[in-house]
Amino acid sequence: MEYRVFSSADKLAVCCADIFTGILKSKKNCVLGLATGASPVKTYQELIRRYEAGRISFADVTTFNLDEYCDLPRNDKNSYYTFMHKNLFNHVDIKEENAHLMDGNAADAEKEAAAFDAMIEQAGGIDIQLLGVGRNGHIGFNEPADAFSDGSFKVKLNESTIEANSIYFDENPMPRYALTMGIGTIMKAKKIVLIATGEKKAQAIREAVKGKVTPRCPVSVLQDHPDALLLLDEAAASLL
Ligand code: GLP
Repeated sequence: MEYRVFSSADKLAVCCADIFTGILKSKKNCVLGLATGASPVKTYQELIRRYEAGRISFADVTTFNLDEYCDLPRNDKNSYYTFMHKNLFNHVDIKEENAHLMDGNAADAEKEAAAFDAMIEQAGGIDIQLLGVGRNGHIGFNEPADAFSDGSFKVKLNESTIEANSIYFDENPMPRYALTMGIGTIMKAKKIVLIATGEKKAQAIREAVKGKVTPRCPVSVLQDHPDALLLLDEAAASLL
């Protein structure tokens, strides 16, 4: 696992967008794994700028998102469906039918998650997976646990995640469950790029880089991936 440290979140986003641009240009019908949260927003903005400048296109691209809340209407302002449309999909030429998020309201969550993993396989696997990281080291919504998860699944969110994400929920209450790609699903991606900024991520990044691989700190699993890169600002890298 490699990491790079940037003096600003803007420079970090340009680097991340460069990596995505390289993949978009080398493989027209590439498969992208996408993330939500604050971390990837600047990268999406940079990709939108490059699309508007005619440098890249998403016309033949397929995307799969890491996770989605359960028990939240798809069009709620806090659903990840809404997030992705607002922050990326509405501004580029991706085809709606090629942009996949799990349905957090599916009657059979297990079936929904298994079908999602099957769809990823059918698309040829994820060429590049973008990740953020939770303060407790979660990736997607894989919370600290006794064992690494395999395929995608329905997860009960833990208190620190609920506390961190509650700031966005002023109308509907913050959901207690989510569907997430499993660690096994994430690790199958050919390339992984993780963005972490701010001192609140420093401890998780320290454990990811210097700690042992343990499901107690899910992001540490990236040590076992053959092509994982962490893009950090100075604050997130401050304990390395
Ligand atoms: C959320 C998401 C993750 C995200 C993480 C960090 O709970 N499920 O996919 O990476 O927390 O979020 P942020 O980038 O806002 O710090």
